[in-house]
Amino acid sequence: MKSYRDIQGFFDYGHLFKRFIQEIPDGGIFIECGSWLGKSSAFLCDAIEESGKDLNLWIIDSWLGSSVERGSSHALVTRKDIYQIFLENMRGRKFNHIRGLSHEVCNSFQHGSCDVVFIDMEHTYESVKEDIKDWLPKVKKGGTLAGHDYGSKRWKDGVQKAVHETLGKENIEVVSCGANSCWVYKNDK
Ligand SMILES: C[S@@+](CC[C@H](N)C(=O)[O-])C[C@H]1O[C@@H](n2cnc3c(N)ncnc32)[C@H](O)[C@@H]1O
Repeated sequence: MKSYRDIQGFFDYGHLFKRFIQEIPDGGIFIECGSWLGKSSAFLCDAIEESGKDLNLWIIDSWLGSSVERGSSHALVTRKDIYQIFLENMRGRKFNHIRGLSHEVCNSFQHGSCDVVFIDMEHTYESVKEDIKDWLPKVKKGGTLAGHDYGSKRWKDGVQKAVHETLGKENIEVVSCGANSCWVYKNDK
């Protein structure tokens, strides 16, 4: 099985995934939106396996790259079928996945059914705002909605504006991951 370390990606939040796994009860649902070539997903699968917990992991991605990054960090999508690379990288692991646009795929999940939804997709203000609107209703009471690039040099302005406007700055926890950080929102409503 390929180690997550040998997969190219944008992953620096392993400690947060481990914390979420500890918090979720057996039988819980963990949704990861944005997998790219599977680096974060491979880590997550392995960490769930190591925890001994029986969790339902769903990995969601269009595997088309983010539209604003196809000319830069996601340029690989113009040359290669990254969905096939993802499948190859994940070979031997147990997971569910849905290929599609998050805005449509979210309809496959019932309201109030998910324990954790983690968002690492397109990082523009409009996209993050839409992602939060789509996924917040899917998170169960006491569950968690979280996302990457809150402290990213390139994306923080849009990500922070969207997160603060939709969830309230005072309601989120910021968890550092190297030079970057993630936002975490507990759904107490
Ligand atoms: C930053 S990458 C994810 C990085 C990954 N977590 C890792 O560890 O390397 C963002 C991913 O989100 C996907 N994506 C962007 N917008 C999307 C959308 N609206 N619906 C589904 N997937 C999307 C892209 O295809 C890309 O694979």
